[in-house]
Amino acid sequence: MTVPVELRDVSRSYAMGPEQEIRALHRITISVRPGSAVAITGPSGSGKSTLLHVIGAMDVSDEGSVRVGDVDVTNLKGAEQADYRRSIGFVFQKFHLLPALTIVDNVVAPLLPFRTSFDKWSRASELLAAVGLEDRADSLPARLSGGQQQRVAIARALINDPALLLADEPTGNLDSETGTEIMDLLLRLRTEHGMTFLIATHDPVVASRCERIVRLKDGEVVDDVDIESGVHYDEVLGRIAGLGPGA
Ligand SMILES: Nc1ncnc2c1ncn2[C@@H]1O[C@H](COP(=O)(O)OP(=O)(O)OP(=O)(O)O)[C@@H](O)[C@H]1O
Ligand SMILES: [Mg+2]
Repeated sequence: MTVPVELRDVSRSYAMGPEQEIRALHRITISVRPGSAVAITGPSGSGKSTLLHVIGAMDVSDEGSVRVGDVDVTNLKGAEQADYRRSIGFVFQKFHLLPALTIVDNVVAPLLPFRTSFDKWSRASELLAAVGLEDRADSLPARLSGGQQQRVAIARALINDPALLLADEPTGNLDSETGTEIMDLLLRLRTEHGMTFLIATHDPVVASRCERIVRLKDGEVVDDVDIESGVHYDEVLGRIAGLGPGA
């Protein structure tokens, strides 16, 4: 099952003292096709994280509407909001693994308090195999490299079989080779699980792997480019030359 993501005129400001506001997002309208991979890019402070947080109901917009499949994310309250959040996969720049728990326990952790219709432990094992870490299930996170820890975080994000995967700078703490491996993994899992995939990234190489690149500046969409398959990577980089930090 995969879902479209529809944003209409979404704005989000933060108060900075009594008189001043920061416009983190300003009238963002984006439609994301079910199952597509979209990079959200733009300089630091342009609103990438805020956008993902609003889509994932980790933050609320002040205006506009956010729909993910049948869910009107803008108007969720209480238990419905918690259920919605749990139905989404989220991967962060910092892996946020629980240091005292083993790898497999970290993967199961989001579901531990809940009764499920499936065996969470066998699903966790399958996901660890899918990210290439089946032999590390009983290790502690500190024994793993950064790239391996991010793989665990990705397995954890998929434990609830999300239709939407949101990733905020998932390669930001990794060297470029490891970052490429993580991006390969995210794109493969996206296809295998039929997820819609939104990734915030500063990195034009990472962005160029997606099917579409949306560039933000000062909370507004300033570029929205489709990358058709088969286009050479250098050409993509040329087209999005302005996508790096400070652009
Ligand atoms: N909780 C908050 N309180 C106040 N201001 C915030 C808050 N979160 C974000 N902002 C502001 O909103 C703007 C957008 O921030 P956001 O974190 O979305 O940018 P970003 O594009 O993800 O940046 P980066 O590339 O550095 O991660 C920035 O000016 C930021 O300072
Ligand atoms: Mg950010």
